[in-house]
Amino acid sequence: MRPLSFRLVLAGLSCLLAAWLASGCSDNAKPITPAPVASAPPAAAPAPAAVKPVSYHAAKYDPIHFKPAIEKATDQQCLACHAEVLKPSVRKTSPAGLPASTAKAWYQVTSTYQGEQDTFHRRHLETPLAKQVMNMRCTTCHEGNDPREEAPGSSTFDSGQQILRKMVNPETVCLKCHGKMNVEVMGLPGPWEQSKATFQNNCLLCHAGIRTTRHQVNYLNAKAIEELGAKPNGGDLCFGCHGGRSWYRTHYPYPRHAWPGMAADVPDWAKGRPTESEVRFISAAVAQTGDKK
Ligand code: HEC
Ligand code: HEC
Ligand code: HEC
Ligand code: HEC
Ligand code: HEC
Repeated sequence: MRPLSFRLVLAGLSCLLAAWLASGCSDNAKPITPAPVASAPPAAAPAPAAVKPVSYHAAKYDPIHFKPAIEKATDQQCLACHAEVLKPSVRKTSPAGLPASTAKAWYQVTSTYQGEQDTFHRRHLETPLAKQVMNMRCTTCHEGNDPREEAPGSSTFDSGQQILRKMVNPETVCLKCHGKMNVEVMGLPGPWEQSKATFQNNCLLCHAGIRTTRHQVNYLNAKAIEELGAKPNGGDLCFGCHGGRSWYRTHYPYPRHAWPGMAADVPDWAKGRPTESEVRFISAAVAQTGDKK
């Protein structure tokens, strides 16, 4: 009994060893071939020979992941290796059999949530709502992070964006659309959920004349936002990015652009606020608004 089973175990082990050796011993040695970009017309697609296979490590530390190269990277370049982030990959049911359609969070049963459960990346880049009101790119959120040193200040790749164990800076990125609504500075009688009826669920009652220079950034479709915001219950759309999906308890300190008729005195709460959007988002904005008009 004993020697036989021992021999079986040995045989099993040597099979594993052989398979391991044949595979090149580790995942890290597998060559990675960036897929040809799907959206390119067939005639312009690169010949297979032109795509050089690169090692896993070389790809992981490809300069495109870090500043300054990431600032100029296009979605196509990122997607050549990361096509999977845009694939619909949500399971229909949990491993225990619970249908995804019955496991919705509170914000997924509001008027601003459409369609079936989808992945995080697709919700920001692929859903009809995302495409209508936003124009996000990989680099809107990803500014480069060191995949090995996960703590701020511990790596030469750290360009001030590295947040402990995170690949994206939530404070400068996510908070813009997922912070709390600043009802105090608006002089609203209470939270929007309670005061929206008084204002006909219409932010434009006030914002047709206040802080009117807004959304002039390359990751938002300013024109579409204003059109949807002006429809009945348009407040739901605006609130969706200004308190309705507040994963954070703090406010984002929005830049305070001057508007016609603005008082000369800067209120205390706004002292020290920038008066322009972040530079990295203004560059292509003018061209984009020009396109849409
Ligand atoms: C709305 C902001 C946002 C956009 C836009 C975005 N990402 Fe991400 N991405 C994230 C966040 C947040 C994570 C998870 C980070 C973490 O765990 O710290 C992530 C994770 C990843 C990962 C790690 C693997 C994974 O799926 O968790 C890859 C690869 C990635 N993103 C690639 C991309 C590419 C390519 C694009 C453009 C097509 C893109 N991202 C667009 C925010 C974004
Ligand atoms: C040449 C192929 C290649 C290209 C191009 C590429 N990546 Fe990656 N990326 C990789 C590999 C390989 C890894 C390591 C994957 C892992 O460890 O799971 C990685 C990891 C990542 C991660 C996770 C980092 C971490 O901390 O674990 C993110 C986020 C990411 N890439 C985003 C991007 C973005 C955004 C772009 C475009 C600016 C991009 N990648 C371009 C191959 C590539
Ligand atoms: C420019 C605005 C904007 C930014 C920046 C932004 N989001 Fe979102 N987010 C949205 C919108 C709009 C939706 C709803 C999309 C939909 O339902 O189709 C959303 C949806 C979500 C959801 C719900 C996804 C689901 O399927 O239920 C999560 C979670 C989320 N965002 C997290 C984040 C995180 C984390 C970041 C930072 C990495 C971020 N968002 C940055 C606008 C933004
Ligand atoms: C009663 C009028 C009123 C209503 C209704 C109103 N706002 Fe405001 N809002 C203001 C005022 C006043 C300010 C501050 C103006 C200033 O900068 O001095 C403001 C500021 C803001 C700011 C910038 C906050 C900051 O910290 O810089 C955002 C974003 C905003 N409002 C969004 C909304 C959205 C979205 C709605 C609807 C869901 C809404 N507002 C409804 C009056 C209003
Ligand atoms: C898809 C998300 C999204 C939607 C929808 C949205 N906003 Fe915004 N809003 C933002 C972001 C992001 C900023 C900051 C942009 C920047 O940095 O200049 C902003 C900035 C603002 C500001 C500050 C303006 C200033 O002085 O710079 C106001 C006011 C505002 N939004 C009101 C509204 C109103 C009113 C609506 C509906 C008509 C609305 N928002 C819809 C994402 C959104």
